[in-house]
Amino acid sequence: MGYQGPILITGASGGIGAATVRHLAAEGAEVIASGRNRDKLKALAEETGCRLLAFDLTSEESVREAIGGLDVWGVVNCGGYGGEIATPMDTDIDVFDKVISVNARGALLVTKYASRNMIRLGRGGAIVNVSSQAALVALKGHISYGSSKAALDNITRVSALELGPYGIRVNGVHPTVVMTEMSAFYWGRPEIGEPFLRQMPLGRWATEEEIAAPIAFLLSDGASMISGVSLPIDGGFTAC
Ligand SMILES: NC(=O)c1ccc[n+]([C@@H]2O[C@H](COP(=O)([O-])OP(=O)(O)OC[C@H]3O[C@@H](n4cnc5c(N)ncnc54)[C@H](OP(=O)(O)O)[C@@H]3O)[C@@H](O)[C@H]2O)c1
Repeated sequence: MGYQGPILITGASGGIGAATVRHLAAEGAEVIASGRNRDKLKALAEETGCRLLAFDLTSEESVREAIGGLDVWGVVNCGGYGGEIATPMDTDIDVFDKVISVNARGALLVTKYASRNMIRLGRGGAIVNVSSQAALVALKGHISYGSSKAALDNITRVSALELGPYGIRVNGVHPTVVMTEMSAFYWGRPEIGEPFLRQMPLGRWATEEEIAAPIAFLLSDGASMISGVSLPIDGGFTAC
């Protein structure tokens, strides 16, 4: 296992975040599940024994109040917003702002307050940022979402640089499509999904657990010399 203290997981009321809570809790980790939907978090807490902490990633005040004094050893920045499917020619710039505000700015705010506590506690730590294949290659319709995840990737690299001297590792994972609420409306359409899968060596969608397991590995002591990486979890799609 090799987790040295409590792990905060944002987006825990969603598909991948909840799977990550279940995975880590099953391994005996102390998990703090966060999101905005208290009912979903409560159900997850009853199921797994995790703690819950609701806050809004778009508000610095909300993030500071929630985690300003929180003792954590690990963080998974999994909260995210899909926004719109649009080209650079027809994007709604208000949607762009919102996508950036949750996926990049929100993750940076969590990193800002959580890492201060990790440094104060002096036990090192690990952060995993949930990026996307959309940050590694150009995907049609993904101007806002891909840009927000590319910004997140820079947050990963610079945070790895700045937090490394405190023994805090920072890594990113880049999932392909998982059929959660966020993705089904687009990738679930046969004319979109089928040509995409024909180009992917493994030729199928990922499951939530297939994202949770690599996140858990990057948090664990098994990854103790890994920092600043971008790990695709994409069935080989971005390698081709
Ligand atoms: N599904 C995919 O195909 C896929 C592929 C690659 C990467 N990803 C990334 O994986 C992560 C999880 O995705 P998912 O598919 O599990 O999505 P999901 O089921 O739609 O869950 C999204 C999560 O983000 C939280 N969230 C959104 N806006 C928030 C805000 N303003 N403040 C606090 N929490 C907020 C939601 O919380 P509430 O509902 O409680 O507000 C929810 O827990 C995201 O970062 C996503 O970009 C997903």
